[in-house]
Amino acid sequence: MHRIWTAADGTSVVIRPIAPSDLSLTEKFDSELSPQSKYRRLLSDRRLSSAELRRFTRIDPRREIALIGVVGDPGDLKQVGVARCVDDVADESAEFAIVVSDDWQQRGLGAVLLSDLIDAARLHGVRRMEAITMADNGGMLKLARRLGFSAQPHPGEAKLIELALSLV
Ligand SMILES: CC(C)(COP(=O)(O)OP(=O)(O)OC[C@H]1O[C@@H](n2cnc3c(N)ncnc32)[C@H](O)[C@@H]1OP(=O)(O)O)[C@@H](O)C(=O)NCCC(=O)NCCS
Repeated sequence: MHRIWTAADGTSVVIRPIAPSDLSLTEKFDSELSPQSKYRRLLSDRRLSSAELRRFTRIDPRREIALIGVVGDPGDLKQVGVARCVDDVADESAEFAIVVSDDWQQRGLGAVLLSDLIDAARLHGVRRMEAITMADNGGMLKLARRLGFSAQPHPGEAKLIELALSLV
């Protein structure tokens, strides 16, 4: 799947599966995220290692889907977002994660990436998508609710919310 989404300001964003050749784009994207976006993505101050970033570009297509948003011309490309999910074969559910670069947040890209990820996961046979987010992450909660996810308090941690969407 490879498509162009046009933002409100007319910028074309290519939405496509991630590839191993995207490592340098991914490293730059990650390094430029604000501390808050990094924290909200991983639910901790932990930094992604080089090995993890490499792994993120070399997905296992049998159980992972990762879509990135890219802007710019060939030779000057910039990653502006990524949404991924990993299938848990044991219960046919998939854990998803999404992050949009700070200067692209609240411009509609998160909704595009997550709805495309949901479509791809459904085609892949995933029956349920899940994630855990922070209770004060208003943007993620609004986005998830808009796409039909339920949002329930995490049983063990008051600061967290469990998001879930049935795809069947
Ligand atoms: C959460 C995140 C992915 C949302 O992506 P985005 O591109 O900003 O989302 P969109 O622009 O598509 O917005 C979707 C909806 O949420 C709303 N929204 C997004 N960010 C918001 C914010 N910070 N405050 C209030 N509303 C917000 C939008 O207004 C929009 O509402 P609408 O449907 O009524 O128009 C993005 O903010 C992000 O990457 N955050 C850091 C990482 C993170 O939190 N990941 C999620 C971990 S589970």
